[in-house]
Amino acid sequence: MRDGICEPATSALLLAWYDRHARVMPWRTGPAERAEGQRPDPYRVWLSEVMLQQTTVAAVRAYFRRFTERWPTVADLAAAADADVMAEWAGLGYYARARNLLKCARAVVADHGGQFPGTEAGLRALPGIGPYTAAAVAAIAFDEPAVVVDGNVERVVSRLFAVEAPLPASKPALVALAAGLTPQQRPGDFAQAMMDLGATICTPRKPACSLCPLCAPCAARAAGIAADLPRKSPKPAKPTRRGIAYVALRADGAVLLETRPARGLLGGMLGFPGSDWSPDPAPAPPLDARWTPAPSAVRHTFTHFHLELTVHLAAVPQDAAPPAAASPRARPSAPATCRR
Ligand code: ADE
Repeated sequence: MRDGICEPATSALLLAWYDRHARVMPWRTGPAERAEGQRPDPYRVWLSEVMLQQTTVAAVRAYFRRFTERWPTVADLAAAADADVMAEWAGLGYYARARNLLKCARAVVADHGGQFPGTEAGLRALPGIGPYTAAAVAAIAFDEPAVVVDGNVERVVSRLFAVEAPLPASKPALVALAAGLTPQQRPGDFAQAMMDLGATICTPRKPACSLCPLCAPCAARAAGIAADLPRKSPKPAKPTRRGIAYVALRADGAVLLETRPARGLLGGMLGFPGSDWSPDPAPAPPLDARWTPAPSAVRHTFTHFHLELTVHLAAVPQDAAPPAAASPRARPSAPATCRR
């Protein structure tokens, strides 16, 4: 019992709701299948959790299907060529995640005989597996009572207990409250039920409290502040970084691209040659051409800064290539894939 909430009764309410309303997902072993004794495939659970850190459930479905058709087991993925995995990952964002995915698959094969470790601590020791992924895979794939806290769970817990302290400082308190709710029986279903509740009913802006299985014990609902929680500390203002991008255009529509350095922001992704978005002086263009600045800058906001790029354009001959020493990573794109 904590703050007037009986935790075992609350998790029982949530599990009963999940038994009826669990979302169907290609990587998920649903509650009915679990009750029949089916066990989730740790490889599929791990792969889906890594992908779900990048984007939405809806967007992950197609990537997950392609990956598992092409590499049905962790051993298949471990044996894949890096470039093939990067190509399948394209569009999911940060290539560093795909590189860590491969490192992890190879460690599972090389050090664990192709079987994922079955404990949170064992999973955490694998390369590229952070605390969230270790807890999620331990709970969902191995039914360990690990405490799984993502943004959905933070929201559900902060409302259930009416935690008024703002995030991110309140995170340890929310984890402790989530730990108190996590049952010894069916912790994997419980973790997924919390995520489903946060995604479908206990939503950020307009929670559907009248449909919520936790409506009765919910302290924020009782206080009429559910939609106001979790509170968040104001974020510090984002700085603006500036840079230059050189866009060399061939008559057939190909543009000159380079592979960015493996480490750092957008590591390993294709980009236009240019500056590294720091206050350094402007770099020389990647090749001799008549460069013209575009009339307006390109603006994009990343999680922690705004970027303002001045674009310099040049039409270049079909056989134009940068001198290797001047721009060693630059090469023309495939014309067909980069037509304007
Ligand atoms: N978001 C991240 N992991 C999830 C899961 N296993 N089920 C539902 N939503 C999720």
